[in-house]
Amino acid sequence: MTGLILRNGDPRDDVALAAVHAAAFPDYFQTHMGPGFLRRFYSAFLRPGHLVVVAVSGGRIVGLVAGTDDLRRLQRDLYPPNLVPFAATFVAKVLTDRVVRRSAMSRLGHLRVAVASIFARDRTESVTVSGTGDSTMYLFSICIDPSEQGAGIAAPLLDEFKRSASAKGSKRVELTVVDDNDRAIRFYEREGWTQTKHLGTTFEYSIDL
Ligand SMILES: CC(C)(COP(=O)(O)OP(=O)(O)OC[C@H]1O[C@@H](n2cnc3c(N)ncnc32)[C@H](O)[C@@H]1OP(=O)(O)O)[C@@H](O)C(=O)NCCC(=O)NCCS
Repeated sequence: MTGLILRNGDPRDDVALAAVHAAAFPDYFQTHMGPGFLRRFYSAFLRPGHLVVVAVSGGRIVGLVAGTDDLRRLQRDLYPPNLVPFAATFVAKVLTDRVVRRSAMSRLGHLRVAVASIFARDRTESVTVSGTGDSTMYLFSICIDPSEQGAGIAAPLLDEFKRSASAKGSKRVELTVVDDNDRAIRFYEREGWTQTKHLGTTFEYSIDL
């Protein structure tokens, strides 16, 4: 790691964020949906109102944290502009990709949310989530490029994310982690996060700011 810089994400970071995500999560659904899907996914978080902090080392992005304190706004930024490419990619990948096919059923709920978010009469209304205004920052993604893992980048990156969340008015941060992701779970517990729920194959963790 050379001269780590932490900064807020910029809309032009979408391709770099997609690449870090794909390298860090090689076996996960979103990576198997392809680079175009990941770029669109991060573009939504890079829109105003959400929070992305990136770690830059040697002039390139080597880590990221992405979240939002406004789930309704995230739905609007993610689904209506991307429904057609997301649906087309999903159908094509279900036919050709084992990882996407394996989690297809559990992802159908997202498709329903996506369609509902387009037809929601008042686009400020949520179609599924219990809402915002509860002072919670929802952390959706944290990852470090594999070539830089183990160098202690995630801790200062997460600290910066928490600082920015607090400055935005959040009182806590929540995340979910797959229950067999031992390295991430060890990391969160060392960083003082508390496990609050075990839902299916995921743990929910929370930390007060
Ligand atoms: C979890 C993660 C964010 C931690 O970031 P990091 O900057 O590597 O964190 P650290 O340097 O503090 O290392 C964390 C632990 O991973 C270990 N580690 C790092 N690289 C490793 C590797 N390639 N293989 C095995 N262990 C590794 C470290 O030794 C340390 O172990 P410890 O808890 O026993 O001390 C990062 O490993 C990552 O991006 N993982 C893949 C994506 C992911 O799972 N994100 C979380 C989803 S909820």
